[in-house]
Amino acid sequence: MTRMVRLPDGTEVPALGQGTWHMGENAGRAEAEAAALREGIAHGMTLIDTAEMYGDGGAERVVARAIAGLRDRVFLVSKVYPHNASAAGVARACEASLKRLGTDRIDLYLLHWRGNHPLAETVGAFGKLVAAGHIRYWGVSNFDTSDMEELAALADGGRCAANQVLYHPDRRGIEFDLLPWCRARGMPAMAYSPLGQAGRLLRSPALASVGARHGVSAAQVAIAWSLRDGNTISIPKASSLAHVAANAAAGAVRLTAEDLAEIDAAHPPPPRKQALGML
Ligand SMILES: NC(=O)c1ccc[n+]([C@@H]2O[C@H](COP(=O)([O-])OP(=O)(O)OC[C@H]3O[C@@H](n4cnc5c(N)ncnc54)[C@H](OP(=O)(O)O)[C@@H]3O)[C@@H](O)[C@H]2O)c1
Repeated sequence: MTRMVRLPDGTEVPALGQGTWHMGENAGRAEAEAAALREGIAHGMTLIDTAEMYGDGGAERVVARAIAGLRDRVFLVSKVYPHNASAAGVARACEASLKRLGTDRIDLYLLHWRGNHPLAETVGAFGKLVAAGHIRYWGVSNFDTSDMEELAALADGGRCAANQVLYHPDRRGIEFDLLPWCRARGMPAMAYSPLGQAGRLLRSPALASVGARHGVSAAQVAIAWSLRDGNTISIPKASSLAHVAANAAAGAVRLTAEDLAEIDAAHPPPPRKQALGML
């Protein structure tokens, strides 16, 4: 059964989605990338995360290919660059993203990271997009707890639907205060790079050992770990069909207390506040 996570208004969205960073950078790979995303949709990973930044709009075009004829099955997330986050800039950037995505609405539109435009202006622009039906929800990315406090204090700042942040067993800083802050407000976190970009994390002996007990790979354990609290959306990126199938299957892996203790011992939770990591 597809695992779901609730947005602050109670709407359910798939907990396990698909990332698209580095897609759309090479025209020769675009069809294979779209096919991987379609395969993921067929496996129930119907939340797709993209951004105007990725491939300079190329990833959004790949997503458009992937979701052609499937739009209503997909929960589509895209992001605006901070330098486009003025009132007029947000409207322009969203229009361009919608065009590249080949759709009339983005389900969740995020400010990619904090920039120089006043947050209140960006929030006001997001509100106008919601009112016009161009986006359904808005949120933020790479916001630490102090940024979230500042946002929440703004008129309509409480309408933020999600915060997308770096989160995997080697980057657990958000557990100290940001995750509890979000949880207290019923706001899901979105874990990006849940596989640690397939680097050192996937060579973790602890993840391998836990995986051996479940008959799954370290990557699948990392995904199951990111989903363990029921309040986090995980968006691994995969461009190979084998990776897509493996990631979808990871959604069914339930880690035990013993598994979590073994992961904690090798990848400890933060003992104190840590600066928000960012890629
Ligand atoms: N908001 C932000 O600032 C921000 C920053 C970074 C990322 N993101 C979002 O989060 C998404 C995920 O993060 P990410 O792309 O940085 O890294 P990631 O998902 O942690 O790792 C992606 C890498 O893992 C490989 N992989 C996928 N499934 C695998 C499996 N089952 N076994 C082994 N390797 C596997 C992929 O290979 P193949 O592609 O060859 O299959 C790719 O090299 C991004 O695509 C993007 O949508 C957001």
